[in-house]
Amino acid sequence: MSNRAYNFNAGPAALPLEVLEQAQEQFVEYKGSGMSLMEMSHRGAIYEGVHHEAEQLLRELLGIPNNYKVLFIQGGASTQFAMVPMNLLQPGKVASYVSTGSWATKAIQEAKLFGETAIAASSEADKFTRIPSAAELKIAPESAYLHLTSNETIEGTQWAEYPETGSVPLVADMSSDILCRPLNISQFGLIYAGAQKNLGPSGVTIVIIREDLIGTPSLTVPTMLRYSTHAKNDSLYNTPPTFAIYMTNLVLNWVKAQGGAAAIEKINKEKAGLLYAAIDGSDGFYRGVAQEGSRSIMNVTFRLGSEELEKQFAKESEAQGFVGLKGHRSVGGLRASIYNAVPLASVKALVDFMNDFKRRNG
Ligand SMILES: Cc1ncc(COP(=O)(O)O)c(C=O)c1O
Repeated sequence: MSNRAYNFNAGPAALPLEVLEQAQEQFVEYKGSGMSLMEMSHRGAIYEGVHHEAEQLLRELLGIPNNYKVLFIQGGASTQFAMVPMNLLQPGKVASYVSTGSWATKAIQEAKLFGETAIAASSEADKFTRIPSAAELKIAPESAYLHLTSNETIEGTQWAEYPETGSVPLVADMSSDILCRPLNISQFGLIYAGAQKNLGPSGVTIVIIREDLIGTPSLTVPTMLRYSTHAKNDSLYNTPPTFAIYMTNLVLNWVKAQGGAAAIEKINKEKAGLLYAAIDGSDGFYRGVAQEGSRSIMNVTFRLGSEELEKQFAKESEAQGFVGLKGHRSVGGLRASIYNAVPLASVKALVDFMNDFKRRNG
């Protein structure tokens, strides 16, 4: 298909072309069943097969140990901002957060609705251009958990290594970088991620939770907002988002066919490396927003000499088939989101455009 855009959208974002074609082929009639998967009961054997395959693939691709549950929940990562404290923050404890940018800030605001919060470290004074170092972290001993945002989608920063938190469970919002690289799941108590960047379409949120944290939240926590409800019922307590889970399953099969998380990481590093090299080698024409050591391999944020030039870059790139390069409205600048499904060829085309744009305007 030659008319596919160079899609750098931040989320919902590019999906693998093979996955879209497979979904198209299976859409009207799923595997000789006489109907679309979207028309089937979520309690039937065919849908349940897809549901369980998606869970098994996630377990396999991320090496999720048996003492963790994998849940499919609705409401986006934004609902997890509330569910985490609702389920994990016991009376007398404090919810600790690392304040790294726009999404961490939202998670903190939400946690404040449910109890006491503490900031273990913050990079706000540096305009969120970096991830705090392990040495900066001050984790209150009475912490119910420590929450971090593994990749700040808007600022373009990413944790290179996750901190050791001892007996305090580590909770991570991995919405914009889950499965971009291999993970040591046992370092975490809970991981959550909206699917719409690296895993599939919007509509489903993945939660990976260590069984001892499922617990029994206070009786006032609504049934649908308890991890225990979803864990006990295999994420089939109510009607799950069958289409989103089906698409996620196709994407997971695609990741496996690429060679899994380690192979994907290698390509992701190559893609990010090309863009950062174009930025760093531009004699200051392009300026990376994130500090070295904190740069994201998923969202590459950069600036030009003036807002006017940035507008011109966005406009001209769009005219040449590049989509989604304008930075988030809250911070401005430019951003290339290069999730797993963004082909290397799209990144190479962008580097060519950047070099050409510099030649004409530098
Ligand atoms: C890191 C991060 N956390 C949370 C969210 C919010 O996710 P949702 O829209 O699924 O609620 C986003 C969305 O872009 C995100 O990038």
